[in-house]
Amino acid sequence: MSDLRSGSLAPGVAFITGGARGLGNAIAVSFAREGARGVALVDIQDEATFKEGKKAVEKYGTKVICITADVTDESQVERAVAEAVKEFGRIDYAANFAGISGPLTPVVDTDTALWRKVLEVNTVGVWLSMKHELKQMIEQDSIDVESGRVSQRGSIVNCASVNSIQSGAGSSGYTASKHAVLGMTKACALEARTKDVRVNCVSPGFLRTKLLEEEFKKAIGSEMLGAADNDAAWGGFEARQVRSRRKASFDEVGDVVVLLSTPRMSLVVGHNLVIDGEQRQVDICQYTMYPPSMQGPARSRNETVDTSKRFSELYFGYASNLSPSSMKGRCPGSIFCGLARLDGWRWQINETQYGNIVLSAADSVYGALFFLSPRDEAGLDESEGVPWLYDKQTLEVERIGADGKGLGQRVQVMTYVDEPRTAEGKIMPDYVVWISKAIRDATPYGLPGDYVEKYIKPYLPEISKEDEEREIQMVRVMAPRSRPIAAG
Ligand SMILES: NC(=O)c1ccc[n+]([C@@H]2O[C@H](COP(=O)([O-])OP(=O)(O)OC[C@H]3O[C@@H](n4cnc5c(N)ncnc54)[C@H](O)[C@@H]3O)[C@@H](O)[C@H]2O)c1
Repeated sequence: MSDLRSGSLAPGVAFITGGARGLGNAIAVSFAREGARGVALVDIQDEATFKEGKKAVEKYGTKVICITADVTDESQVERAVAEAVKEFGRIDYAANFAGISGPLTPVVDTDTALWRKVLEVNTVGVWLSMKHELKQMIEQDSIDVESGRVSQRGSIVNCASVNSIQSGAGSSGYTASKHAVLGMTKACALEARTKDVRVNCVSPGFLRTKLLEEEFKKAIGSEMLGAADNDAAWGGFEARQVRSRRKASFDEVGDVVVLLSTPRMSLVVGHNLVIDGEQRQVDICQYTMYPPSMQGPARSRNETVDTSKRFSELYFGYASNLSPSSMKGRCPGSIFCGLARLDGWRWQINETQYGNIVLSAADSVYGALFFLSPRDEAGLDESEGVPWLYDKQTLEVERIGADGKGLGQRVQVMTYVDEPRTAEGKIMPDYVVWISKAIRDATPYGLPGDYVEKYIKPYLPEISKEDEEREIQMVRVMAPRSRPIAAG
């Protein structure tokens, strides 16, 4: 007899909350394509959306029922489970994907009722769904499993998000709700594993569903999401989704949920499977929300900056950010006011793999001086790192002239310093392009040639013509790398 596997991967019955559209529907389609005999789409959508969602799944010959139920209402969840069981006799795979984004506003400006609502749908809704799915699953027999493998009465996959392990300014409700999903998943997994039910969660990155549409409309141009429009906002998020900078497709999430639901994943319990094309590697120490100024000059926020607002501190952007035009692209609402030298420091790529400056008695760092707009400063706060990684410090710099020589004028500036993490790192390829362009752009403004020769050029590999012409989407990109930077 052949040991090769054949037949349907997921022949059982799937119960999917939020299943009428978006990722929930993509999961339903994936189940259908893997041979599910039945799918229950549970949602609060209108008839047309349900109809479209149902059609997409039925295309693969799977029987679909649509159940209108609000996951925040226990009696409705209970009824939904009962209806699915009445139709199909059991639920083998549950995917709890009903969710909302909630307001994208700073805590101090957030309506408390709206904040509670996010928790109600994303956390309480998932908990209620788990509760009643689990009740059903532990009562039923195992689905067929391969000989020698443990039985599986059911599998539950909850929808968390990359916000279950990181955060973004303006997302306190959503982040709290998704951290909670991860916590509940772990606790419930421990209870359910002894009853042959596996509970896990998944954390998708950014997919352009309708989830964020309404909130993006409200947040566009705000301090939380300074993008000029929806496309610009999504462009920034999607650019970080996968290394190849392509968009992620919904079925890439759907397929993961199906695979995670099969009894072949028998040893995977209480797991948070991140589906983000390594985006969190980029962001793990950073906030998820990058201001458009971080996406290069092409996506400048000039139009959305409120110039009537005061400017904040004088900011010193050093190292790879020293080029006036790079800084201008990054901080479009700010005013460039020359170059400066900071004595007693040197720049390096540290173990977080981001450029930063560290104390070094005999060295100097050159950079651009800017009066930051409040919005750009907020953006830098996010992009420069979270407080436990980087210190916001006040330092004294000397202004330099077009010839690179000191003017004798010393000014207090604000900058970000990474003191505790001083180990050497490596320069990322994207960083190389950025730095090379920054040097080229800064030279006419008086960046001293000997500084470039001594501190920067030795560590930069040649950049290809293709890279040279590439529009830089991000300043900070983590990827495998070429050459380590030597200790200065
Ligand atoms: N799109 C993304 O980038 C992304 C990333 C990470 C996680 N997620 C999560 O994926 C899940 C699905 O979201 P989506 O992106 O497909 O958005 P979506 O808005 O297209 O789908 C969410 C669905 O949930 C339903 N829903 C909302 N409240 C409900 C309630 N009280 N009861 C029943 N159904 C309800 C909606 O009607 C909708 O059909 C959410 O939990 C979301 O937080 C999405």
